[in-house]
Amino acid sequence: MTDEGGSFHPLRLDAPREEVLARAAGLIGDAWRSFDHARPEEPPLDERLGALLGAALPERPSPALEALGDAARILDESIAQPRPRYFAYIGSSGLEIGAVADALAACYDVNLAVYAAAATEIETQAVRWLAEFVGYPAGFGEFTSGGTVSNTTALAAARERALPGTRLEGMGGIRAAVYCSQEAHYSVARAVEVLGIGSRHLRALPIDGQRRLRPEAVAGAIDRDRADGIMPVAVVATAGTTLTGAVDPIDSLADVCAERGVWLHVDGAYGLPAAAVPSRAHLFAGLERADSVSIDAHKWLYLPKACGVVMVRHTRDLVSAFAHEQGYLPHQGRALHAVDTTLEYSRPFRALKVWLAFRAHGAAAFREAIERNLHQAELLYQEVARHDDLEALAPPQLSTVPFRHVQAGVVDPSAHNAALADALQADGRVYVAAAEVDGAAYLRPCFVNYRTTDEDVLALVDVVREVGGRLAGGGR
Ligand SMILES: Cc1ncc(COP(=O)(O)O)c(C=O)c1O
Repeated sequence: MTDEGGSFHPLRLDAPREEVLARAAGLIGDAWRSFDHARPEEPPLDERLGALLGAALPERPSPALEALGDAARILDESIAQPRPRYFAYIGSSGLEIGAVADALAACYDVNLAVYAAAATEIETQAVRWLAEFVGYPAGFGEFTSGGTVSNTTALAAARERALPGTRLEGMGGIRAAVYCSQEAHYSVARAVEVLGIGSRHLRALPIDGQRRLRPEAVAGAIDRDRADGIMPVAVVATAGTTLTGAVDPIDSLADVCAERGVWLHVDGAYGLPAAAVPSRAHLFAGLERADSVSIDAHKWLYLPKACGVVMVRHTRDLVSAFAHEQGYLPHQGRALHAVDTTLEYSRPFRALKVWLAFRAHGAAAFREAIERNLHQAELLYQEVARHDDLEALAPPQLSTVPFRHVQAGVVDPSAHNAALADALQADGRVYVAAAEVDGAAYLRPCFVNYRTTDEDVLALVDVVREVGGRLAGGGR
């Protein structure tokens, strides 16, 4: 882009700024149109891409518009979660206004490591809006790259409260423990490892018939550890497990924690947005009693990655864990920099997309979209029940519905369903992954995309039965 301000610098493009922008806007429009409906298959990587992949580091420039076209081709040949029949893992939707916010924020490239005037104030407001949306009385919160960093941040604060001074002295042989369900997300184990507590001291405890952490198991484990001289650091309640969407009983866990003076963290990275809708709010009773909470806007709030939020009841807990003084960041008149409460240093202006999305759509539209996904999970569960060759694990608690293909004559249903997930991905009409539940492979669709329609849910059932039947040798 020539510098239309007239100054000369080495990083100029060969096309005028407005032309590059117009082309980029056209490509974004193409992408959005292509996400409006499912496509019949995932395209194979083509020859042009093959040639690009073989290219060495370019010393000389290519025409900017040609390079942009290639970038669009790469994206089109990538597996994109915003497509309406992407049901694997916990996807995201790349909400359009969120993508626009990201483009704008990237232009200004504000750094939220330190006070950034309006951006800092909007980050505070966006946290407040999110807290209000899910009903958590946050004293403070901040944007992170996602659930992993949010959980680590919260557990760092919990460790410092349980063992003051550990951030300076290290664990020095102190034995400490964290308690969670056996189906908590791996990021909890990772946090415990990097915090020096050690994943051997992560008590991954038994679950009940609805796959929820048992409060009495937590109470017993804490009491046993205390008797053995092991310091309990935190209990992690998962509000929407990654595997099945189970919501741990937050209120009862809060009782266990309150009686024992232990930090309660709620990992709502996936499920917490459902606390905002009337049909599921009761599952999250007691949320207001948690010391900290994680929620990912890049999951069930439809925004583009990476956009997590960690909230705490008391600001001082994050300050105790992260505040510091460095010559290159003197505090001067300002009491705290953002880096005095965050794990990250440089942070992009992630809050803008949440703020703009709530402004442009209103909270009611988000509640409606979440209810629609919950309805789609119910619809899938009912459809599965209608067919003899399908079997669901259990009624959905949120928007995840593990189920499997169970055609007569299949000797090893687990191997069959693992192979079926591969076959479905190769087929390309729907994208679903396998997951292991109680040692058996299930297909595990999760509905967190606002573009998914009921028709897409019915298509999932049809394609699974067709491909599953063929794979089992029976055809259909
Ligand atoms: C319950 C839960 N916690 C944490 C995470 C990790 O989130 P991220 O991938 O944003 O780091 C996930 C991811 O799926 C999750 O489901």
